[in-house]
Amino acid sequence: MTESEIILISRYSAAELAGSILLGKYARSTKKNYLRSQLTWQCYEEAEHAWKWAKILHDQSLPLLEIHDKNEYFSYASELKNEIEFLVFAHIYELRADFHLKTHITLPSLDPSFKKTMQRIIEDEDQHLDWIAIYLKKIQKEGNKEVVAYIKKWGKFENKTYIDYISQLASSDDKYFRQLGELIEKNLSNYEFSWKKFLQD
Ligand SMILES: [Fe+2]
Ligand SMILES: [Fe+2]
Repeated sequence: MTESEIILISRYSAAELAGSILLGKYARSTKKNYLRSQLTWQCYEEAEHAWKWAKILHDQSLPLLEIHDKNEYFSYASELKNEIEFLVFAHIYELRADFHLKTHITLPSLDPSFKKTMQRIIEDEDQHLDWIAIYLKKIQKEGNKEVVAYIKKWGKFENKTYIDYISQLASSDDKYFRQLGELIEKNLSNYEFSWKKFLQD
């Protein structure tokens, strides 16, 4: 396990925890029974993911590092005005996280324990993507106009913060970060921006 992988695992764990805390916050404030149940379940899943990443380090007596990345997508969460905006925010992030992990997992130098956990987490994430997309599509069909506005807003934020992050990795002095950044840059044209389907109707 390299120092770079310890940093990335700590970063992935911190992002899952940040996601879980936000999901829990909206599970506590929603007035809708369906959303309360779904958000509680997903809060639990993301907290479990935070621990799954952390456990890779724990099992090898390696430190889980303190991570406070500035200007990344989650640092804009304080702008969220309501639960629909939050669902859009979460959905766009999860679509990119899915692309990111599916690309990272192809890095030849990936540590085997890191890879094993990554595979399990990728499988869980598919279900998260499905239910939010179905719910947003449903309210959009019922006449909600906020979804489109929020998709445009957070799509732009996400693209900028992600591209900035990847170019930081690709231009890093650290060999592992550079390899990962370059691998992702090479695959960026395959990213489907699936959230754009909300803009087509
Ligand atoms: Fe997760
Ligand atoms: Fe997720």
